[in-house]
Amino acid sequence: MKQNLIKQNLITIKNLKKSFGGINALDNCSLEIKKNKITAIIGPNGSGKSTLFHAISHLISADSGEIYLDENEISPNMPDYWIASLGIARTFQDARLFRNLTIQDHLEIALSQNDDSLLKSLFGKKENFDEKIKEILHLVGLNKPLNTLATDLSYGQRKLLDLAAAIAKPHSIMLLDEPVAGVNPVLRNEIKHILKELHKKGETIVIIEHDMNFIMDLVDYIYVFDYGAVIAEGIPKEIQDNKKVLEAYLGD
Ligand SMILES: Nc1ncnc2c1ncn2[C@@H]1O[C@H](COP(=O)(O)OP(=O)(O)OP(=O)(O)O)[C@@H](O)[C@H]1O
Ligand SMILES: [Mg+2]
Repeated sequence: MKQNLIKQNLITIKNLKKSFGGINALDNCSLEIKKNKITAIIGPNGSGKSTLFHAISHLISADSGEIYLDENEISPNMPDYWIASLGIARTFQDARLFRNLTIQDHLEIALSQNDDSLLKSLFGKKENFDEKIKEILHLVGLNKPLNTLATDLSYGQRKLLDLAAAIAKPHSIMLLDEPVAGVNPVLRNEIKHILKELHKKGETIVIIEHDMNFIMDLVDYIYVFDYGAVIAEGIPKEIQDNKKVLEAYLGD
């Protein structure tokens, strides 16, 4: 029975705990991410949203609890190369790019993160990613010369490059940590359109976002965090008028 439930999910989180000193960043957090859906995680500042992404992507290890990707358990003692092979693509709240690398460098690095490319480059056969890079940049609408350094991009353009790199990386799931935070309204709408396109293509996406208006007509399901645990969940319509949710935000 337990295995059957896990099969329907791309990610299953059970009773995850992580504390930093005295702070319980994740406190018995449990949730399920369905395949081919967009799931949002919302919640006040400091409620553990980014910590969950860090735990899933193995950047930190949880103190206890279980994380499954498909039916594979991601445990703290798994080697990093094994985690890398599971296909988790993510963006960071603060768009972590390499200042002195170009748009092309970022996308080539992302695209070459599969075993095939690694083998080819070991044998001196560098893959040609030009077409794919063009395609991805077109999808995200980043119209800058390929040799532009990350440091010469505006804040919004850096967000787009971070998203483009996540799309480029071979993956089965994308974890997007506030991809539109601080982004102007025009670009926000463009990013929403990109995410809708990815959804149509069958991507499984988890997005952390504070703005209810942004996610209302975008996501299939919402989890609301407070103090490191899920305090409410449901489709957007159910969450919009949920008293507990309003209290969590207003009491912030
Ligand atoms: N590396 C760390 N060391 C110490 N405390 C941390 C660390 N990472 C997170 N925390 C603390 O854990 C709690 C949860 O942080 P987290 O970044 O997951 O929240 P969040 O929901 O993503 O918040 P925000 O909406 O502001 O991004 C916070 O109290 C934070 O200060
Ligand atoms: Mg965060």
